[in-house]
Amino acid sequence: PPLDEILNLHDFEAIARQTMPEKAWAYYSSAADDEITTRENHAAYHRVWFRPRILVDVTKVDWSTKILGYKSSMPVYITATALGKLGHPDGELNLTRAAAKHGVIQMIPTLASCSFDELVDAARPGQVQFLQLYVNKDRSITKRLVQHAEKRGIRGLFITVDAPQLGRREKDMRMKFEAEDPSEVSKAGSRGVDRSQGAARAISSFIDPGLNWKDLEWFRSITKMPLILKGVQRWEDALKAYDLGLAGVVLSNHGGRQLDFARSGVEVLVEVTEYLKRHRGLTFPNEKFQLFVDGGVRRATDVIKAIALGATAVGIGRPFLYAFSSYGSEGVERALQILHDEFEMNMRLLGARSVADLAPDLVDASNIHSH
Ligand code: FNR
Repeated sequence: PPLDEILNLHDFEAIARQTMPEKAWAYYSSAADDEITTRENHAAYHRVWFRPRILVDVTKVDWSTKILGYKSSMPVYITATALGKLGHPDGELNLTRAAAKHGVIQMIPTLASCSFDELVDAARPGQVQFLQLYVNKDRSITKRLVQHAEKRGIRGLFITVDAPQLGRREKDMRMKFEAEDPSEVSKAGSRGVDRSQGAARAISSFIDPGLNWKDLEWFRSITKMPLILKGVQRWEDALKAYDLGLAGVVLSNHGGRQLDFARSGVEVLVEVTEYLKRHRGLTFPNEKFQLFVDGGVRRATDVIKAIALGATAVGIGRPFLYAFSSYGSEGVERALQILHDEFEMNMRLLGARSVADLAPDLVDASNIHSH
């Protein structure tokens, strides 16, 4: 169907399922074990309801914000998803281009199909990009990548901490991964791997399961970029990250692709804000220690709920992959435009004029129980 007949982010998934190469669909859509967490990620937002304010002058509403101090046209960023060329020959470049047009931030994955430099070179002057990092067993490779990224102007380093081993994604494992074509995976970690067990397993053997809290000191010594842990799932770890002086955490379960029965990000968010207030007196959103959430976000209402509950911004993954697989960068632009339209309407209906207005009193989260 033509793009203007696509009305929401779910539509992109339905179309991609019918039209994408089977291998790409298997890799993008798959999740761990019985895929319970993936389903829960979106469903968890259904437990949060709104308490709109009436009779607010909402002639003008503004949902732009700042993420790690950088402007974003909405409290949403494009999160890191590997292997963009499985879905479209231009791979992650589709995301870079659409992000530029809409003034949103792209997180470049370590395992992008396009090379890191290609994605940085494609950015417009002033366009902000972050880097998602998988830490290599060979730290000299990681150090080189991190310092190169800093030199190239990357504004935030998101270290993935929920993947000491890749989860079992059986849909993907049933596909044999034959990326002899180097265009599908950039050189990172693709040497000497087992290609018989799906795309994810094939590309991930370089990731260091030995990564631990002590390594964070080392990261501090090699870069001045803000450090954020991606994949935090309990308040105790968020508190440790805060105490170590990190810039923030992403409350995420990797789109349900790692530990099945991990809780949804929005559920963990409620717990984290409560306990960090109790133990450190922190209130959120907080400029010094920012909370991000990803997983299952498909509507501006989902985003608004997370922001009202204290997140600075929210990451979206699969919908953009599905959008570019069928429509290239124009699909991603359309997805972002849909979100803009949804923000405008829902901010008005909530009686919220700006992101600063999105406070906890606008939601009823009593169906989400803290730990
Ligand atoms: C991911 N994700 C991910 N995360 C990460 O830290 N490094 C990576 O290489 C990848 N790769 C990746 C590939 C694909 C196909 C998917 C779907 C996801 C996880 C991603 O950053 C994010 O946590 C989830 O995708 C968010 O959930 P939704 O928006 O996809 O539901």
